[in-house]
Amino acid sequence: MTDAVRQFLEHARAAQAGGAWVKLTLGAPRGGDPTLRKVLVRPVDLRAGPRLSFVYRHDTRDLTKNLEPEAGFTLMGELLGRAFGSAHLFTTETEVELQVPASGEPRLRCRSQARAKAPPSRHDRSRHRLIDPREARWLHALGVTTREGGVCRGMEAKFRQINKFAEILHHQMGGLFPEGGALTLMDMGCGKGYLTFAAYDSLRRAGWEIRVRGVEAREDLVTLCNGVAKAGGFDGLSFEAGTIAGTDPANPDILVALHACDTATDDALAKGILAGASLILVAPCCHKELRPHLRPPPPLRGALRHGILLERQAEFVTDALRAALLEWAGYDTRVFEFISPEHTARNLMIAATKRVRPRPQGLLAAAVRDLAGHYGIASQHLAVRLGFPLAASGADPGGRVGTGRNLPERGSEPTGSGFGVPPSGSQGAMPPSA
Ligand SMILES: C[S@@+](CC[C@H](N)C(=O)[O-])C[C@H]1O[C@@H](n2cnc3c(N)ncnc32)[C@H](O)[C@@H]1O
Repeated sequence: MTDAVRQFLEHARAAQAGGAWVKLTLGAPRGGDPTLRKVLVRPVDLRAGPRLSFVYRHDTRDLTKNLEPEAGFTLMGELLGRAFGSAHLFTTETEVELQVPASGEPRLRCRSQARAKAPPSRHDRSRHRLIDPREARWLHALGVTTREGGVCRGMEAKFRQINKFAEILHHQMGGLFPEGGALTLMDMGCGKGYLTFAAYDSLRRAGWEIRVRGVEAREDLVTLCNGVAKAGGFDGLSFEAGTIAGTDPANPDILVALHACDTATDDALAKGILAGASLILVAPCCHKELRPHLRPPPPLRGALRHGILLERQAEFVTDALRAALLEWAGYDTRVFEFISPEHTARNLMIAATKRVRPRPQGLLAAAVRDLAGHYGIASQHLAVRLGFPLAASGADPGGRVGTGRNLPERGSEPTGSGFGVPPSGSQGAMPPSA
């Protein structure tokens, strides 16, 4: 390494240590990949600790690598001269320019500059936004942002929802998985993939080694999403055509199903539970199953002759049963508002985390049955999928069936279309059109 490169790296180290780093760019790429334009480097504060984030800017995509600071400076030293002919560092007080000509001595110039403000590290920014529209180019490919990174008119609510989902996902993952480790996520009924890309991109940028599979009934959406993933160079993100009920999720660490229609949410919940996913997130929609079967107790009969109240009550009972069944199956469950109802009516989220030590199932099973019994519900899709008889005359899941024997151990479901393995095709009925 020449003195000039060493001095440049010293400036960068000092800027990182003193919080004075404004911008660092490696430019004038030499050979190698003709689509690579430059590399942008900046310090970020991740939960795993400080890192240097390298964004490799290609013609149509960005690739991000987060490295521990010293590993980052070593990489920069290796890239300078070999892969890039110039580097610019802007700090709050200085501009440092390095030129490494193909032949001849490297030159370093320092100029003081008008005091600039250091941008906040990602940790500070992430409180507001995990998905930055200027960096996440997939948002443009999916029609959410303009080429320049502005949010398209009419897509503001979608953009807020995407960010809110990423925030919830990161928050719910807190403490569940080793920081920055390898993880698999399954998105059931992923539609146009907004939230699938959001999960993949935000977790990659946060340093996780994440692999994501999206499953969607509509082949046109699957083709679109695979095209966007390929163009973005998103290794480990794939989409496949199929139904939720007909897909083997293998052993995902995280399973999500957002706005999957009616009982498709139950299919997804059952898949997540039976596969032993550590975290399950669902945002249910169109609760059609229970409404015709509600037999409310006498005090509620008058109120529930009004269609809208019956509809809301059916939604409430459906989601309350889902939460109670998740608890019976060994999960801690939280139900909360996903996004303000002003943005979408489908605004409820159920988050379930698998308990290390399941609670005794007897009382939990009784709670499920009491709730179902109160509304005269004898059957519900998730209960059926889990082999949990709601009717009192059935087998007692709390005492006998529910001792855990009817819930397979994680990974005991047949495998075959695991992460990175081509899908085995779809089975089961196709859902109503989205
Ligand atoms: C309302 S969209 C939501 C898409 C995405 N999850 C989101 O929140 O942006 C529901 C999607 O789920 C798909 N879907 C519904 N039922 C399904 C099933 N049983 N199997 C696979 N896909 C399903 C639909 O085709 C549709 O694209």
